[in-house]
Amino acid sequence: MDEYRLVQVADIHLGAGQELHLDNWLKVARWIARERPHLVVANGDLVLGDPDADADHAFAREQIGKLPVPWRCLPGNHDIGDNIVSGKMPQRVSDARRARFASHFGDERWAFEAAGWGFVGINSQLLGSNGQSAEAAQWDWLAHTLTGFSGKPAALFLHKPLFLDHPSEPDYEDLALRQSCIDSGSRQRLLDLCKRHRVRLVSSGHKHQTRAFALDGIYYIWAPSTACVNSPPTALHWGMREVGFVDYRFRPDGFDHRIVGADFLFRHESYMRKYGAAGE
Ligand SMILES: [Fe+2]
Ligand SMILES: [Fe+2]
Repeated sequence: MDEYRLVQVADIHLGAGQELHLDNWLKVARWIARERPHLVVANGDLVLGDPDADADHAFAREQIGKLPVPWRCLPGNHDIGDNIVSGKMPQRVSDARRARFASHFGDERWAFEAAGWGFVGINSQLLGSNGQSAEAAQWDWLAHTLTGFSGKPAALFLHKPLFLDHPSEPDYEDLALRQSCIDSGSRQRLLDLCKRHRVRLVSSGHKHQTRAFALDGIYYIWAPSTACVNSPPTALHWGMREVGFVDYRFRPDGFDHRIVGADFLFRHESYMRKYGAAGE
């Protein structure tokens, strides 16, 4: 296969019995049915808001399951709870919440190879878990998986970004900022692995903003949400405050990406509804 087309949808935020965001998801699903990428990656925050709303998990799974192409999911803070050391939501990641995710959406991490690339998706919510055995297992699995790519360029998918301004930044005191990315200890450990094993792309969601930059040989792409933009217009934003999704094409000599949907999805603004609630 010379070219592998992968569509990343992030933060689809669907709820049972809710019209909210479903309008956009149905448009995205129609686009996918027409374009037929090789794979769709749903990169976390699949459910509307409450990680423990079983009906929302079932509804989001039902919608994703209608896609006529292969798909893989990764969990976000709204699916299985927030990170233990850097999160903000009252619900935090636990074995029970991870098991619920797996029962609906499949594996919380996965890897495969195509078009001369290694692809790996991990559970960002386990990073900084304060000693949960599942986190240690994921670190071991990730090192083993990256080693198995044998020097091929690799693309890493996870829900939360690694940092906001720079890899060297400390953990923020402000919880709203701290929950925006993974903690500094996990970030350094992850970047050490990325650099040792030729990770060339880190693709994340969570911030509901589009952003793309390259640093030290790694391309970082923040995928917009298909559902909505967050936070008041006056808040500090790092990227484009738009809705959409990412259309990737990988070839042995590189990759292309474009943001799709900003022009035909409805740009819901969720901050009015979410005032007083936690997280993105
Ligand atoms: Fe999120
Ligand atoms: Fe989100």
